Amino acid sequence: MQLLDGAAVSAQLKSQIKKETEELKAKTGKVPHLAAILVGNNPASEAYVASKVRTCEELGFGSTLLRFDTSITEQQLLDEIDNLNADDKIDGILVQLPLPEHISDDKVINKIDPTKDVDGFHPISLGKMLLGHKTFLPATPYGIMLMLEHYNIDVTGMHCVIIGRSNIVGTPMTILMSRNAKPGNATVTMCHSKTKNLKEITQTADIIIAAIGRPKYVTADMVKEGAIIIDVGINRIPDATKKSGSRLVGDVDFENVAPKASYITPVPGGVGLMTIGGLMKNTLEAAKQHI
Ligand code: GUN
Repeated sequence: MQLLDGAAVSAQLKSQIKKETEELKAKTGKVPHLAAILVGNNPASEAYVASKVRTCEELGFGSTLLRFDTSITEQQLLDEIDNLNADDKIDGILVQLPLPEHISDDKVINKIDPTKDVDGFHPISLGKMLLGHKTFLPATPYGIMLMLEHYNIDVTGMHCVIIGRSNIVGTPMTILMSRNAKPGNATVTMCHSKTKNLKEITQTADIIIAAIGRPKYVTADMVKEGAIIIDVGINRIPDATKKSGSRLVGDVDFENVAPKASYITPVPGGVGLMTIGGLMKNTLEAAKQHI
């Protein structure tokens, strides 16, 4: 079993981005700039956004963090996005999800200028991805593709089972794994909460991508010997042995699945770090396109 080390791969990715950013600055004076919007104070969202802003600093990017109380109206938030769309200094706009219930995710994402959609959630970005055109890929699927590329894992002809059909991860992953590209050319089965015989399906998988948001959902009996396991889950569970009283686990029962796997991503230290790498790579690309 080989661990797919998100820390090592993302460190290498970040050093490449930092170098390219310095070159871009020296040649053109352009400094990539990411604007992040955080509404409310969901602890997980706070942590993700703080980490994204910290990474911007590390890479020599500019960053703007706009924080709003949950009392902000949908229209006010849409106006804020309009301001960022019109600001030439801003290359990428990220609205941390989930948003409060009174604000429509779709309306907000639709408002983002597609040339600044570094999260790759806008219908234009997703449509281009579907057609195989050059565009911003959603950060987590992009990070997973970069991880597979880094380890030279050729998924051509493999049976890839994706568990979870979110717009952010599961659905775009089905497109990327099946398209005629490298990595790609896998035979994809998309599973979700209504799938019957899930275990029978996962047992035939050469690669499983678990993105269902349930702690330790993929158990050893669901996994074929030698399968590749990509764990997208970040779930907090109670743990009395920890000072904080809790710890992070993925959607995969790592302890029991890892001995059967050929490759596996740990949680934390796997896909999560690659997500930030994907976002930063998109932001650098957006800056280059804005010169
Ligand atoms: N919430 C959970 N994952 C993500 C992500 O990748 N981007 C944003 N903006 N919000 C998220």
